[in-house]
Amino acid sequence: MPFYQRLGEVPRKRHVQFRENGTLLTEEVMGLEGFTGNESILYHLYSPCRVMELGDFEPIVREEWVPETHAHRHLKTYEATEPSGDEISGRRTLMWNDDVEISLCRPASTMEYFFRNGEGDEVVFVHEGCGTLETIFGDVPYCDGDYVVIPRGTTYRFRPEGPQRHLVFETPGLIEIPRRYRNQYGQIVEGAPYYHRDIHPPTELRTIREQGEFAVKVRVRGGYQTYVVDYHPFDVVGWDGYLYPWTFSIHDFEPITGRIHQPPPSHQTFAGPNFVICSFCPRKLDFDPLAVPIPYHHSNLQSEEMIYYVSGTFGSRKGVEVGSITLHPSGLPHGPQPGLAEASIGMHETTELAVMCDTFRPLRLSTFARDLDDGRYMLSWYQNAQDGDAAAGDDATGAGLTSHLSAARSTRRRGAAGGSTSSGDGATGPRSATRASSPRCRRSARSAARPSSASGRSSSPRRSRRTRRRRGRPGR
Ligand SMILES: [Fe+2]
Repeated sequence: MPFYQRLGEVPRKRHVQFRENGTLLTEEVMGLEGFTGNESILYHLYSPCRVMELGDFEPIVREEWVPETHAHRHLKTYEATEPSGDEISGRRTLMWNDDVEISLCRPASTMEYFFRNGEGDEVVFVHEGCGTLETIFGDVPYCDGDYVVIPRGTTYRFRPEGPQRHLVFETPGLIEIPRRYRNQYGQIVEGAPYYHRDIHPPTELRTIREQGEFAVKVRVRGGYQTYVVDYHPFDVVGWDGYLYPWTFSIHDFEPITGRIHQPPPSHQTFAGPNFVICSFCPRKLDFDPLAVPIPYHHSNLQSEEMIYYVSGTFGSRKGVEVGSITLHPSGLPHGPQPGLAEASIGMHETTELAVMCDTFRPLRLSTFARDLDDGRYMLSWYQNAQDGDAAAGDDATGAGLTSHLSAARSTRRRGAAGGSTSSGDGATGPRSATRASSPRCRRSARSAARPSSASGRSSSPRRSRRTRRRRGRPGR
């Protein structure tokens, strides 16, 4: 979607004869909005219609939780989500509406089939894990911190390296780069928080000439239909166009900061129909002497706000933690807990890393979400005011994104100058297990992208892999 790409062999012009060893290849136009939207043209060894057996249809069954009360929610997912299924069957729906479906996935097994979402785009945020998304367009390497964007119609399977933890967004609409980030020609403009170089299309097309029996599971009409084909689905010898899977690392998002507080749209990363996905990344905070760096109270009169906390120092006792999800539904105000606005003054930076999804229409909750709900979050503003805990402690709960408080406080206690938050002490226990998405990784990603000397750099497999990936990227 972001720009024109081409891999493998394609004929000189569209819709003309293209042969391999005398055999006419099958041309497939995969496009959006009839024949007027973005499209790619693929050249197959076999007809993509060639199905040898019609398998089962499995309807998607959601167990809805309709709470008796309308309240802010805090879901603790990190320890409570056990690995199960694979990268598709292991997706456990948390919340959904007609525009977007949000799931957690900790796969326990590897996909033994190929998958295609026939009715929606997907964004898989990789909280933990690396691997390769093998697709009909070629291999897409990914690592922790990556958003893996998969347009509908892409046949794929995950090939993970190690344990995985995914936050998955599925939408019947289109995932797009926000319109205001692009000029009339499609180029990402100056001032946007990322650029084309940060977007990584498939790196290598492997045409697999293998026959046998291969299951392809397709999400359609609210369920999964399995088809069996007699050829390997990755039979494409070449393709070109604007439609293909790609990755973007949250560590490559350039935060937009200001003299006074910047509103959440400054963190926007993707646009979908009636929802947005945003990235909250480590950054300097507001620098006006009178600035209040913490978010102001706000009422999401037309929005539901879901935030998934990835890494950083989120506080301790009553606060959010890695893997926490806060849900601030429409119709209710939320904001900093008692004392936090005052305590935030003078803070210089934050180490928080989080993914937010704001929807314009109400979200429905699953029984899985019910089981993760701490049941206490709604009253935490009152209780902290009664206890006086918030102002004195490390608790950042309810502030929206105020993890910098605990980090900065820790720094102050240690007497460090300049508000450095590089080693806040809020992360303990399971939180430290998420170090993969820390600012360290952000630095490694950037240094790997630089052609300069690599003195002092680690030679970890992850780093080497990322380096290869960056270097192996085709120019554009
Ligand atoms: Fe908020």
